[in-house]
Amino acid sequence: MHKDHNPAAAPTTAPSGGALSASLDAFWMPFTASRQFKSAPRLLARAKDMHYWTPEGRQVLDAVAGLWCVNAGHARPKIVAAIAAQAAEMDFAPPFNMAHPKSFELAEKLAAIAPKGLDKVFYTNSGSEAVDTALKMAVAYHRARGEGQRTRLIGRERGYHGVNFGGISVGGIAGNRKSFGTMVGGVDHLRHTHDLQKNAFSRGVPQHGAELADDLERIVALHDASTIAAVIVEPVAGSTGVLLPPKGYLERLRAICDKHGILLIFDEVITGFGRLGSPFAATHFNVTPDLMTVAKGISNGCVPMGAVFAKSAIHDVFMTGPEHVIEFPHGYTYSAHPLACAASLATLETYAEEGLLTRAGKMAPAFEHAVHSLRELPRVIDIRNIGLVGAIELESIPGSPGKRAFDIFRECFERGVLIRTTGDIIALSPPLIVEESHIDQAISTIADVLRSA
Ligand SMILES: Cc1ncc(COP(=O)(O)O)c(C=O)c1O
Repeated sequence: MHKDHNPAAAPTTAPSGGALSASLDAFWMPFTASRQFKSAPRLLARAKDMHYWTPEGRQVLDAVAGLWCVNAGHARPKIVAAIAAQAAEMDFAPPFNMAHPKSFELAEKLAAIAPKGLDKVFYTNSGSEAVDTALKMAVAYHRARGEGQRTRLIGRERGYHGVNFGGISVGGIAGNRKSFGTMVGGVDHLRHTHDLQKNAFSRGVPQHGAELADDLERIVALHDASTIAAVIVEPVAGSTGVLLPPKGYLERLRAICDKHGILLIFDEVITGFGRLGSPFAATHFNVTPDLMTVAKGISNGCVPMGAVFAKSAIHDVFMTGPEHVIEFPHGYTYSAHPLACAASLATLETYAEEGLLTRAGKMAPAFEHAVHSLRELPRVIDIRNIGLVGAIELESIPGSPGKRAFDIFRECFERGVLIRTTGDIIALSPPLIVEESHIDQAISTIADVLRSA
């Protein structure tokens, strides 16, 4: 049993508090089917290690690390203590033309575990902000080195890069774009890599599809490389249902970017901090981007935080001109927030002490075996996995896409397991402290629900 998170030792009832005393009316909820939710709310009141508890004290296994972020599990003592101590010592420090020591200490520690060469760290408060920061950095970098015409940004179909205007513009999800009018101009998209015909039920990266990276050559031929600033992709697309890069795809994308002087951005908001069994997907696939966005696991989800890692060569291009002038006019009031830095430092210590940045690799065979055991169940059309990420794709109900999986999500919650669904895909991404017994519980609950659906 992994130390400190013996589920038997965790209380099975919630302590007092957490019960709902307010009306549900005022809170306009994010990414939520609000009317459905408010007619039958699903509330969480407490969390520890691998579990949540509802206000009534019902225990729920967290099979999704909250929202792909609580990689070390919930309420880990070191992180809790660090946040409390920091709040008492210094609650806030202005980040513009001022700083506090922990922001430098953390940047050094982050750079030490980052893929080689990505040794500058710019802080944000979320993945969405990290993405928009990276896109701005890419465009400004080209301008600073005299190629101001390189403004075009290339995303990928079915990509998710958060919800700010830059992120939805390079993102490839119609539902997140269609209501919001004009996107950032000069954006194009690569084809996505999901090919059920050729790659269904792959274990690990799929064999077919490396040539889809050549789609970048089509876009270069259309717009000319001299107009393109950057390409942004998730190494493993999470939010649109765990789409894995075909074998050789990321290497090929890197080579095409190099050939044309285009920056490659990896959005590692979900793959960063151990999800695949290596500190980052870039480390895992041995492909180094020029810029890398992270969030979520950087602070174990405890205090909002994100960051952009940049190559020194990119950073250094900005460091010219009069010394009193701001070189990169960008940043947030809460960039390098002291609470977030304290939480992240304690998170990195917890990861290191417990070997969590590589533990997904050790658990991956058992996890793979378990998720693929669902293959013969009704309406399962694909299963895919890598590290501690798994997806079970289901046949949609004709005319009601997403409903089948959403009903399964609700039923799993009733039966004590929190899963996540996107469209008709069930996605699993448990905290990296997960044990085989938790995996068995999650998979057997999903199996029972699939059988009875
Ligand atoms: C790949 C990726 N990029 C960006 C984001 C946005 O992060 P946030 O919700 O912290 O803004 C997410 C969130 O899930 C993500 O998965």
